Amino acid sequence: MSVWRIKGGSALEGSLTIQGSKNAVLPILAATILTGCETELTNCPALRDVEASLNILRYLGCRVERQEDVIRVDSRPMTGCVIPCELTREMRSSVIFLGAVLARCGEARLSMPGGCELGPRPIDLHLSAMEALGSQVRGEGGEIFCSAPMLRGGIVHLELPSVGATENAMIAACAARGETVITNAAREPEIVDLQNFLRAMGADIDGAGTPVVTIHSFTPADRVGYRIMPDRIAAATMLCACACAGGDVELRGIDSRQTESVTENLEAMGAEVARQSHRLRIRCRQRLRGGRTVITQPYPGFPTDAQPLMMAASLKAEGTTVFVENIFTNRYRQTEELKRLGADIRTEGRVAIITGVERLHGAPVRAEDLRGGASLILAGLGAEGETAVTDRGHVDRGYEGLDKALNALGAQVIKYESEN
Ligand code: EPZ
Repeated sequence: MSVWRIKGGSALEGSLTIQGSKNAVLPILAATILTGCETELTNCPALRDVEASLNILRYLGCRVERQEDVIRVDSRPMTGCVIPCELTREMRSSVIFLGAVLARCGEARLSMPGGCELGPRPIDLHLSAMEALGSQVRGEGGEIFCSAPMLRGGIVHLELPSVGATENAMIAACAARGETVITNAAREPEIVDLQNFLRAMGADIDGAGTPVVTIHSFTPADRVGYRIMPDRIAAATMLCACACAGGDVELRGIDSRQTESVTENLEAMGAEVARQSHRLRIRCRQRLRGGRTVITQPYPGFPTDAQPLMMAASLKAEGTTVFVENIFTNRYRQTEELKRLGADIRTEGRVAIITGVERLHGAPVRAEDLRGGASLILAGLGAEGETAVTDRGHVDRGYEGLDKALNALGAQVIKYESEN
């Protein structure tokens, strides 16, 4: 059990380089097993979810080594096609290995990833995508069995623009005979990063970032090198941290277009933002103003992952801010804990209404999920006194040293492990 102790009241000042993207590196690590090859990935973040993915790769027989931000995967010795429940339990998004294992082995077996903190996490779209590529799919005893001696190209239509299902379909389609067209594909930047990686692996693939992705053919490379994109949600987190604490923060090593929906919302609240293509500078010198409605949508709409972070930034903003969470059914778990800090929040189904308060006061609170935990830490930056966030490892799943990053900007955050 981790405890994050935040002493509120310090403005943030300085500049920071943003970590590599969790949601880009996870599908790319899965894709390294598409064929027997040696892959070197750079700008990889040090996260619990990345460690969980490396454990899955080792379990499947790959040789894996990590040196700081460099991960090397040799997938030539891979033998396994089963991902056991203790590994899928470790990381809900391990379903992203399904397409790659099926493509490499002609069969795949993994236990149903449990629900998670955000509500039920079905994988029906992943499975229908595998069936559209010629796989037999059956479920038994909480496990999924896929078999496809030969995957064949075809049309994969997604009822919802699911990020994970789009990624599984792109990866599996590389091993399919003939052309595959994925329609209603997710358009997130991480999908484009995966496309760029698959091209480096030898795929002739186009369309990522649009609703139609086409995989024409695949000529495997023996050695692959790739640099992971920056983490746009980690960038959004630091922008919202500055909004909570006040100050003047510069982010480096980012693609500022990818956080535009968050940046423009903060600007509308009264933050000053200077944009360059790979840098962002945000200044918050006076009380922010609420008033806009934040509606989460698939990219390029407002990202669901930034909803808890923007909520923290809205707690002391003058006026009322309305949130509508359209992606996950249970993504307001942070609200009860934020109220313990003095926030005025009312929720009804997918809607949350924040009425800005003059001040927040530190209190003991509990992280229930990754981004909700981050929102509690951010709210603590702007609260009077000390906030203690107890956390069963959620925040470290997605942030590489969030305490160190905030303290480098002048915050006072102490993170320690506690027995109970
Ligand atoms: C990815 O999750 C991200 N995770 C999530 O980030 C992110 O919140 C989400 O995309 C939306 O942007 C990774 O990339 C590892 P989805 P994913 O499939 O792929 C429903 C974070 O905080 N759905 O796009 O699981 C689903 O229930 C994490 O970094 C089905 O109904 O998201 C949800 O309501 C949290 N059937 C919606 O679609 C399916 O087969 C979007 O889910 C799949 C999904």
